Amino acid sequence: MIKKGIILAGGMGTRMSPLTKAVNKQLLPLYDKPLIYYPLSVLMLAGIRDILIIVNKGQLSQFQKILPKNNNLGLNIQYKEQLKPRGLPEAFILGEKFIGKDNVALILGDNFFYGQSFTLKLKGCVKLKKGATVFIHPVKNPNLYGVAKINSQNKVLKIIEKPKKYISNLAVTGLYFFDNNVVKYSKTLKPSQRKEIEITDLLNIYRKKNNLNSEMLGRGGVWLDTGSIEDFYSASNFISTIENRQGFKIACLEEISLKNKWIKIKEMKNQMSFYGNCEYSKYLKNLI
Ligand code: TTP
Repeated sequence: MIKKGIILAGGMGTRMSPLTKAVNKQLLPLYDKPLIYYPLSVLMLAGIRDILIIVNKGQLSQFQKILPKNNNLGLNIQYKEQLKPRGLPEAFILGEKFIGKDNVALILGDNFFYGQSFTLKLKGCVKLKKGATVFIHPVKNPNLYGVAKINSQNKVLKIIEKPKKYISNLAVTGLYFFDNNVVKYSKTLKPSQRKEIEITDLLNIYRKKNNLNSEMLGRGGVWLDTGSIEDFYSASNFISTIENRQGFKIACLEEISLKNKWIKIKEMKNQMSFYGNCEYSKYLKNLI
């Protein structure tokens, strides 16, 4: 059972400059909450309570200010600073101590997931004992992503970063589950031309050992990237449409904790005073 998860919430956010000059992308509002709430909610839906958030050097206090206190979410959140964006697998090098002898999930701080049965799929993925699992999702423009070719048993046969020739329309999303070898393998990776160690190279180590599986979100599921300003606003609009139609919030952290029985009414009330008089607080009040 995977009980630990890492959120990579550093990065330069160059595509979103000047918005990201002073503020990290993950702290910007995706509709009614900071972006970081969404990947955090994914780990929580998977039942993961031990969480390491990797942030850029110098930005730690901003994250601590925006995120609720551990006790009020029933979580154990730790932080680690990354000096420079040296690539996604650096998460496992920086997180070595946090991971210890366990298996671990990784989610990129700017990835948004939503859809029927998503929680059920997450609960399946955390059962991983050996190898790695990637979450894949169909896209119209696979040449922009890491792309996977899979067989009928969902084993990954091929994985290519931004393929020039079509191999499939299945993009590898920013949600992964790894066995403990991930730390050892990450340390063997050499930086690519763009001077980063690459997640595709890491996944290829597992694939070569015939140990890379995939989980599909399905066409009723939603995966949105929030890397560019256009993407960011489309995701915001999507969330506002769903929330205003249904009256449910997407990625309300306290709602998930309450459902998971990690917190009680007292912590909900603490959170209402943490947020102050706002829509989010009113939503929490309605829940209790
Ligand atoms: P990217 O999309 O590679 O980078 P970015 O978000 O900084 O944006 P840009 O390309 O516009 O500069 O990163 C994906 C996510 O992973 C994002 O949330 C930032 C995070 N990240 C780190 O925390 N550390 C890293 O070393 C890298 C490469 C990314």
